[in-house]
Amino acid sequence: RKRLTITNLQQMKEESNKLTVMTAYDYPSAMLSEEAGVDIILVGDSLGNVVLGYDTTLPVTLDDMIYHTKAVARGARNTFIVTDMPFMTYGIGREATLRNAARMMQEGGGQSLKLEGGVEIADEVAALVKAGIPVMGHIGLKPQSIHTHGGFKVQGKHEAEAEQMLQDAKALEQAGAYAIVLELVTETIADRISRELSIPTIGIGAGRGCNGQVLVYHDILQYSSPVIKKKMVKVYADIGSTIRDAIGAFVSEVKSGEFPAEEHVFGKRSEDAVDNLY
Ligand code: KIV
Ligand code: NA
Repeated sequence: RKRLTITNLQQMKEESNKLTVMTAYDYPSAMLSEEAGVDIILVGDSLGNVVLGYDTTLPVTLDDMIYHTKAVARGARNTFIVTDMPFMTYGIGREATLRNAARMMQEGGGQSLKLEGGVEIADEVAALVKAGIPVMGHIGLKPQSIHTHGGFKVQGKHEAEAEQMLQDAKALEQAGAYAIVLELVTETIADRISRELSIPTIGIGAGRGCNGQVLVYHDILQYSSPVIKKKMVKVYADIGSTIRDAIGAFVSEVKSGEFPAEEHVFGKRSEDAVDNLY
C-alpha cells in the first residue's frame, strides 16, 4: 500500500470516505497500525502522559517527539505520519517556530506537523506551509493549554465560544492547514465546522459529523495501568489484563522451576546461534 498524501486526504472528504487516525508512539505499534490499515499515524504529545508518565503534555520536549517519530517512521514506511509540535516550540515567533519545525521534519522523518491553536497561530501556520510543511490544526480542548482551560472541559457549549472556534477553524484553513483536529467539543459545533470548511476535520470526543476520527492506541487497547475510562473512547481489546497475566505466569514459572524447560536450553548438539537477539 502506498503512503497517502494531503491530496488523497482532501479527496477522501469530498468522497465522504472517513479518515482513520491512530495515535502511536513506537515501532511495533506503528507497524501494527499500518498493517491494520489506518490512514494516518499521529505521534501525539499525549506520549507524555501515556508512555512517559507525566501528568500533562507540558514537559514533553522537541527531542522526545523526534525520538518517537523516528521509531514510528521505521515501523510504518507506507503511512502518512504527523508529529505534534510540543508545548512552547511554536507560538513563539515565526523564526523560532520554523527552526523547531525544521528539526522535527529533518530528524524525525514524518510528513507533517500538528499545532494546537487557531487565529493566534495562523501566521506561523502559514509560514510553515510556505516552507513546505503540511500542517494539521488542533482546536477545541487543547491539552497544552490545560491550565488556562482549567480542566478537561467540553468546548463550544456557549455561543461565543462556539463562534470563536469556527473563526479559529476558518483562520487555519485560510493559513493553509490541510486538516484540523477537533478535541472534546459538542457534536453541534463539530458538525458545523465540518460542513463550513472544505478541509477534513478529525474528531476525538467531537461526535459523528467529523470527516475522520482519532483515538490513542493505548486507549482502545486498554494498554495501561491504571486503566482510565474515557467517555469518548471505545475500547476494542483488553491488552493490559493479557499482559499482566502473562508476566504473572512468567514470574510464577521461574519461581517454580517450570521455566526454562527442555526446549529452551542449549546442549552440545543445538544450533550454535539463534535467529535474533539484541
Ligand atoms: O496527542 C495526541 O494524541 C493528540 C490526539 C488525541 C489528537 O493530539
Ligand atoms: Na497532542
